[in-house]
Amino acid sequence: MRRKLAAGNWKMNGTGAALSELSALIAVHPHPSCEMLICPPAPLIHRAAALVQGSALAIGGQDCHANETGAHTGDVSAAMLAEAGATHVIVGHSERREDHGESDAQVCAKAQAAIAADLVAIICVGESLAQREGGQTLQVIGAQLAGSVPEQATGANTVIAYEPIWAIGTGKVPTLAEIAEVHDFIRAELTARFGAERAGAVRLLYGGSVKPSNAAEIFAVSNVDGALVGGASLKATDFSPIVAAL
Ligand code: G3H
Repeated sequence: MRRKLAAGNWKMNGTGAALSELSALIAVHPHPSCEMLICPPAPLIHRAAALVQGSALAIGGQDCHANETGAHTGDVSAAMLAEAGATHVIVGHSERREDHGESDAQVCAKAQAAIAADLVAIICVGESLAQREGGQTLQVIGAQLAGSVPEQATGANTVIAYEPIWAIGTGKVPTLAEIAEVHDFIRAELTARFGAERAGAVRLLYGGSVKPSNAAEIFAVSNVDGALVGGASLKATDFSPIVAAL
């Protein structure tokens, strides 16, 4: 039985004042078979992790460098995130792939670094609008999975987030059948590579305009084990009902 996960990605939003949202979230008690996670900007991770200690809320990073140390100005290693109190890290978000030109190979190296630092890697994949309209969705997702998911991936150290780029922050959401098609495909690809038992333990999140109003129907879709939430994770009043819908 895969544990459900509601993960919030604050992206480049939130200063110290936003930690009050975490104070509100630690009062939320998800069902014992569910987990909740917030990934704030890196400068807040240490304070956030201290704040949520002992609660059901986990804290994660939004990216990590593939190397352990070195001359990489502005970057943060997976071990640094772990030391600051993070337990998870998002890698390969489409905004990183686009803004920083990250390739599948780089994303794979970041996921390996995360796993080596005992973090859970949340590996993002997703097609653009042009790719969807061109009928290339499954081909694109298949290539991203093959290139971004490392050999050592297991259900304990890896989560896959399917985020259609055209659904991020737009209010547009694929149909439930479209979400099911991609999630079933991801499960099948992982099964072909890792075998049914190992692949069956990997959680698959949907991300892209998840809101309190649509979370329950999305969570009911085949092979959807939770969500990666952007805008609706910034306020505890929006994120709590999403956690409750898991
Ligand atoms: O990482 C989160 C996603 O990019 C989804 O963002 O919920 O604001 O559409 P959104």
